[in-house]
Amino acid sequence: MERQAVEYSQNLSEMITRLNDPGFLLVSTKKTGVSNVMTISWGMIGIIWGKPIFQVLVRPSRYTYEFIEDSHVFTVNVPPPELKRWVAICGSKSGREIDKFGAYNIATSPAQHVPSITIDACPVVYECRVVHYNNVIPAQMDGAVEAESYGGRNYHRIYFGEILGTYAAQ
Ligand SMILES: Cc1cc2nc3c(=O)[nH]c(=O)nc-3n(C[C@H](O)[C@H](O)[C@H](O)COP(=O)(O)O)c2cc1C
Repeated sequence: MERQAVEYSQNLSEMITRLNDPGFLLVSTKKTGVSNVMTISWGMIGIIWGKPIFQVLVRPSRYTYEFIEDSHVFTVNVPPPELKRWVAICGSKSGREIDKFGAYNIATSPAQHVPSITIDACPVVYECRVVHYNNVIPAQMDGAVEAESYGGRNYHRIYFGEILGTYAAQ
């Protein structure tokens, strides 16, 4: 899909709605060049340190976690309605079990600002470089939120990705 550079804040309200449902596709690529993809629904776009930042929350159990730890780069891809079934697969199957790109013939292209890839069918993509991360701290979390989202384990790591480029189909 032909995409052009746009402001990171373009259609922000619509993007947040779509992040929540059906979710976005988080792609990361190891230094070896191999990539993995998973569905995300939790995240934030905003300004920190005077930079546009995409925060994504990844549990250590995810295969994707290994990829971001390795390279510190990721892309966030906004799926079109036609990819709805694949988005559900990317949110339920691990890349440890299947190659989610290869098994479903998903076309990708090199990202422009980071050594990773973007998904051709996605009308909007964000290219990000990790400039900070931290972990959810159970002792500092509201008990009800902790119980609902964690139950004592698998606390997210929060990656702060500087948005180096945002591209959208016009
Ligand atoms: C709609 C939806 C949203 C999700 N959001 C997140 C998220 O924000 N963070 C996370 O760690 N897992 C999230 N998941 C779970 C992962 O997508 C899922 O565990 C996936 O299979 C991990 O793939 P991987 O092991 O190849 O990284 C979500 C799943 C769905 C269906």
